[in-house]
Amino acid sequence: MTQHPLRVAIAGAGMVARVHLDAARRAGSRVVGIAASTPERGKLAAAELGVPHAFASAEELVTSDEVDIVHICTPNDRHRPLAELALRSGKHVVCEKPLATSAADADALTALAAGSGLLAAVPFVYRYHPMAAEARTRVRSGALGPVHLLHGHYLQDWLADSADSNWRVDPVAGGPSRAFADIGSHWCDLAEWITGHRITELVAATATVHGERSAARAGTFAAPGAGPAATEPVGTEDAAHLLFRTDRGATGSLLVSQVSPGRKNRLWLEVDAAEASVTFDQENPETLLLGRRTGIEALARDAALLSPEAARLSTLPPGHGLGYYDCFAAFVRDVHTAAAGPVSGPGPGAAEPPAFPTFADAARTAALTDAVLASARTRSWTEVPAA
Ligand SMILES: NC(=O)c1ccc[n+]([C@@H]2O[C@H](COP(=O)([O-])OP(=O)(O)OC[C@H]3O[C@@H](n4cnc5c(N)ncnc54)[C@H](O)[C@@H]3O)[C@@H](O)[C@H]2O)c1
Repeated sequence: MTQHPLRVAIAGAGMVARVHLDAARRAGSRVVGIAASTPERGKLAAAELGVPHAFASAEELVTSDEVDIVHICTPNDRHRPLAELALRSGKHVVCEKPLATSAADADALTALAAGSGLLAAVPFVYRYHPMAAEARTRVRSGALGPVHLLHGHYLQDWLADSADSNWRVDPVAGGPSRAFADIGSHWCDLAEWITGHRITELVAATATVHGERSAARAGTFAAPGAGPAATEPVGTEDAAHLLFRTDRGATGSLLVSQVSPGRKNRLWLEVDAAEASVTFDQENPETLLLGRRTGIEALARDAALLSPEAARLSTLPPGHGLGYYDCFAAFVRDVHTAAAGPVSGPGPGAAEPPAFPTFADAARTAALTDAVLASARTRSWTEVPAA
């Protein structure tokens, strides 16, 4: 039975696990344990992060009777087995993206979760920027007219040099797609979430700029290791270009890259509708650009001027910058609130609980990933399965 406060355990102790930890604490949940790649690393992480218990393994963590909800923050190839084990052990699950390293595995997990009565969430957290939510409300209201074009990019530079490497480069640990599955998935989720359009077919060209990379694997976003190191062949893409069409007659384009010098985490999405365009820039998330033929307005975040969902997410006054940590905190708060169950029964007129991104949304991006790889391989337009 779920306890109050919710008992949380985190599998993984790297970059994003620490963000989950912070978010769980901000949600008022109790982080009871953590696991890393080895028991020793788990103990070090627990001591460093003030977590009371180090599980000897992620498998022990996801099956523990002392845990209500597990957060899976390991390399990608561990997601499917750990999420499956957690669901079969009766745990609510927050699993990092990509949910699995193939669409078939993501679909299998989604079906398992759907029949379990448990919560199964995936942190597509850019949805939780208030100005991204504002973009969604405005586009979906219809006031801007029909959407004609969707375009943008998601650019990073932390793998720009051949001396840079990481477990993501390895097709086994990371999966057969790197740049697209890792960050293109975020862009596509956000684009479909904001517009309600679905990408139905695409053509993709992928690029592997460095055919060989250092065999010394640094941590996520870490600087390259000093000194010469042996190299190994690279089996995943550094970048992907896409053209696509949607189910509602829009066309679009996207460039995803992890080798673009100077670009750190530049998720840029523009939606061009008949009457106006909206542009969201993840590196400047406190404003939304609203374009009309008569001029462009930079709408600043101010709850008093925003739609209800954007105002709900606007947890600090204007001018007090919200960012990535805050998106994560809002996402985890919604998931943990749902997992803890209603404090009092829903009364007349009670608001619907906020919807959060689920395994089904992640399975959608896994289908897109498979389509990107297939299109790049065959050099042809490729359909994306609907569900
Ligand atoms: N939603 C987001 O915005 C976001 C951001 C960054 C990363 N991610 C995802 O989070 C996951 C982790 O990425 P990261 O950047 O934190 O990686 P990282 O390399 O910084 O950390 C990975 C961690 O996993 C641990 N680990 C490895 N094998 C393990 C195992 N078998 N059992 C338990 N722990 C194990 C390692 O010790 C390390 O602590 C990836 O799937 C990535 O795609 C999502």
